[in-house]
Amino acid sequence: MRVSLYSDEQAASVEAARQVAALVRRKPAAVLGLATGGTPLALYKELIRQHGQEGLDFSGCTTFNLDEYAGLAPSHPMSYHHYMRENFFEGVNLPAERTNIPDGLAEDIPAHCADYEAKIHSAGGVDLQILGLGSDGHIGFNEPTSSLGSRTRFQTLTENTRTDNARYFASLEEVPRHAITMGIATILEAREIILLAFGAAKAAAVASMIEGPLAAMVPASALQLHPAVRVFLDEGAASLLTKKDYYRYLQQQCAGQ
Ligand code: PGA
Repeated sequence: MRVSLYSDEQAASVEAARQVAALVRRKPAAVLGLATGGTPLALYKELIRQHGQEGLDFSGCTTFNLDEYAGLAPSHPMSYHHYMRENFFEGVNLPAERTNIPDGLAEDIPAHCADYEAKIHSAGGVDLQILGLGSDGHIGFNEPTSSLGSRTRFQTLTENTRTDNARYFASLEEVPRHAITMGIATILEAREIILLAFGAAKAAAVASMIEGPLAAMVPASALQLHPAVRVFLDEGAASLLTKKDYYRYLQQQCAGQ
């Protein structure tokens, strides 16, 4: 993993956006894997800015989101469909028919999940997957003890995740108990991965992901198996790493790459 440390969330997000934009410029038909939550908001803002001010063109791109709450309609204000419209899609020129998000209302969930995997495959696979990180080490909604070989599927959320996400809902009771999520094996098939994590609440999960053993209890540790992962951290999220000086040294060596 290539670990990059930044003074704050904004600086890290601008740098992460630069990597996404470089891919889109190099490969106009890029397939992007997208994430939701608080973490990628500044990244999306920067991509929208580059679209508006620098002509960054998403018209040839295809996107696949990681996950969606089961039971929420696309029109529900807390759905990830709604989040994506509000925070990214309305600000760029992605063709709606090439944006893909699991359907939280799918009647036959296993068939829908198999179809989602098939769509990713027929689009040529994900070129660049954007990830956030749960405070319990989840990626997508792959909760601790998820199989490292898991594919897109129905997943029961932990109380930890429901509590973390309750800030977006009127009450904890309203937070869905289930989701549809890409699996860990699905995520690992992306050609490149960028993971962002900000704030001290993520520090323990970040340290386990980067420096801990590969373990189903920390789904993000599966990223250790992937050859092209870049991790963007602020000071708080990096605070429990033991090899910070080494990462800083490498970051200086790689500056500009
Ligand atoms: P957050 O969620 O970005 O809202 O902190 C991250 C995640 O759960 O993956």
